[in-house]
Amino acid sequence: MKKIRIHIEEKTQTYPIIIGRGIMRKIENYLPVNAYGKIVIITDCVIEKLLLKNKPQLFSVTTDSVVLPVGERAKTIETVQEIWRELLALNADRSTLIVNIGGGVVCDVGGFAASTFMRGVDFINVPTTLLSQVDASVGGKTGVNFEEIKNIVGTFQQPKAVIIDVETLSTLPEKILTEGFAEIIKHGLIADKKYFKMVTTKKPKEFSQDELIDIITKSCAIKKKIVEKDVREGGLRRLLNFGHTVGQAIEAASFENNIPLLHGEAVSIGMVAESYISLQKKMISKKTFEDIIEKIASTGLPVRVSGMEKKTILEKMQHDKKQNNGRIQWTLLNKIGEGVVDKSVSEELINSAIERTIGL
Ligand SMILES: NC(=O)c1ccc[n+]([C@@H]2O[C@H](COP(=O)([O-])OP(=O)(O)OC[C@H]3O[C@@H](n4cnc5c(N)ncnc54)[C@H](O)[C@@H]3O)[C@@H](O)[C@H]2O)c1
Ligand SMILES: [Zn+2]
Repeated sequence: MKKIRIHIEEKTQTYPIIIGRGIMRKIENYLPVNAYGKIVIITDCVIEKLLLKNKPQLFSVTTDSVVLPVGERAKTIETVQEIWRELLALNADRSTLIVNIGGGVVCDVGGFAASTFMRGVDFINVPTTLLSQVDASVGGKTGVNFEEIKNIVGTFQQPKAVIIDVETLSTLPEKILTEGFAEIIKHGLIADKKYFKMVTTKKPKEFSQDELIDIITKSCAIKKKIVEKDVREGGLRRLLNFGHTVGQAIEAASFENNIPLLHGEAVSIGMVAESYISLQKKMISKKTFEDIIEKIASTGLPVRVSGMEKKTILEKMQHDKKQNNGRIQWTLLNKIGEGVVDKSVSEELINSAIERTIGL
């Protein structure tokens, strides 16, 4: 079992991330749950069926559950209202502990509902996808999508603890496990060359649970180091955006084109496009660029996309521009293991990176 402690804003808020095997059934070892008047589990219907039904009770005390519909389309204010309604019906109050068990959607929506109900009740996250274990666990962002804009309404609210049980990953489809590796590879590319090499030595499903514990611990530690220095995304935290400027535009365009890509798949393609921009700006060598593509592709993640219009991708990037005073601040690579924020990129170079990405 591994343990990381996160300190946010002058150490006034601190919480542990516990990473291990079979620890979902031992939450009471890590958190004084008896101090709470009531425990409400928030989950989705897939997790409920796979991980919670017919399993030993997670707590020694009685708990209530709120079961959400599955996936990104449940990430709405209506779902949050449903949770608030259920909490009222359950007579939840400020002594209630909310336990979010699920992927990033459950953690984001459940965290948002908890951070707003009665001006905030305590919550813990038990992330069950690799992506949510290495990314959504650290940083305290909660929220929902609104007017088709992702994560546009939300709060910064730290959980009381994050419990990561690698056993939960055994029911995860291979495609979703592999997708989680995109963020792991990103951590290597922006912060640690040795780690990048290690996580691309074999296919994601070939890593043992013990190896996954080490990988999740390392990724959380990299994100923690960045987030602790910049909780509210003033500068350094934008390192974590590597691959996301092009990636999120591709992700949005993929929904329009009816060839939906998973977030991690789009980020993987985005990392290649942004490495290409780094190459063209003479920040990395051709050999490094080729090495990045080869290693990412070897994990089974996509490195380019077909059937997508350049125009649509560029349109989707306009949203990023609007949010940043009309200019995109790019996160690029100085070398493998060293990201750099706030770089500007010419329209011409953006165009050629997108053309390369869609195989023109
Ligand atoms: N708050 C943050 O800092 C942060 C960071 C990254 C991503 N996110 C958010 O996370 C969301 C994506 O998270 P996600 O990729 O976990 O998606 P998800 O929560 O939609 O889960 C993906 C699918 O896997 C299923 N699933 C979850 N755990 C499973 C398991 N153990 N076995 C079998 N199936 C399982 C879910 O039911 C769902 O169908 C996005 O909304 C994104 O915006 C938030
Ligand atoms: Zn991401």
